[in-house]
Amino acid sequence: MSNREIEIIEITLLLEAIFLRYGYDFRSYSGAHIRRRVRRHLELSGLENISVMQHRVLTDPEFFQTLLYDLSINVTEMFRDPSFFLAVRNKVVPILATHPFIKVWHAGCASGEELYSMAILLREEGLFPRLQLYGTDFNDLVLHKAKEGIISSTAIKEYTKNYQEAGGKTTFSDYYTAKYGRALLSPDLKEKILFANHNLVMDQVFGEMQMIVCRNVLIYFSRELQNRVIRLFYDSLCRGGILCLGSRESLNFTDVSDKFDRLDEKERIFQKKYTKGT
Ligand SMILES: C[S@@+](CC[C@H](N)C(=O)[O-])C[C@H]1O[C@@H](n2cnc3c(N)ncnc32)[C@H](O)[C@@H]1O
Repeated sequence: MSNREIEIIEITLLLEAIFLRYGYDFRSYSGAHIRRRVRRHLELSGLENISVMQHRVLTDPEFFQTLLYDLSINVTEMFRDPSFFLAVRNKVVPILATHPFIKVWHAGCASGEELYSMAILLREEGLFPRLQLYGTDFNDLVLHKAKEGIISSTAIKEYTKNYQEAGGKTTFSDYYTAKYGRALLSPDLKEKILFANHNLVMDQVFGEMQMIVCRNVLIYFSRELQNRVIRLFYDSLCRGGILCLGSRESLNFTDVSDKFDRLDEKERIFQKKYTKGT
């Protein structure tokens, strides 16, 4: 048996151990992604091999937390992919505006930048009074950061550019206060946001939503798991509800593909059909 084959067995056992001990299910994540992250964590931890790491995970919850952080990629930014936000402004806002109350769920929100960007955009478009935003992630560390509403002050220049390209109506600096090398987002943006721990693999429908945004999360899942999660989104959306995915994600191969209209194929914005009985 080759070293590679042994490594695959060790990783399978590690993921099983994580699931049995902590209930986090990484068994359906993309194999290549998990292998890269586990190897990286092994190197950083200085442990001998993956089997030793498995024992450590079982007996040391704090060690598990650091591994959990490594298994999930938390990269995000304000107005990431500005053309996506511009499309939301031009094509989605008129649809959302037809609802008396608007609930938007950002699944896999990481440290919240995407969610705060959406709050800014929907406020500028006059939808704030009837809006409720939900931000969920399965990683408590990033959720904690998200609740603080602090963004990187070194990235402000880039975020300002993104904001403008996304059709921003005022200036980005209206939305934060810079202090001690950090930028604190306006507290009134937070008023409309609830953060919660939610695991897309294990938890159920989150409530009936007018829009679900889940970008750059599904790429780490196997096709089977993507299919399951997209079904969860389908069940969580109202008729005519909007689903937004990341630029490298698709619902074309999923069971519910033909139950959505393509509102903007390039920006991965879909609308659940109004058809009765679905
Ligand atoms: C790359 S970030 C994407 C952040 C943001 N959506 C964006 O596009 O800028 C991926 C996030 O998905 C979260 N995630 C991964 N698997 C998850 C799961 N099973 N349930 C909930 N969140 C998950 C990770 O913790 C991470 O914060």
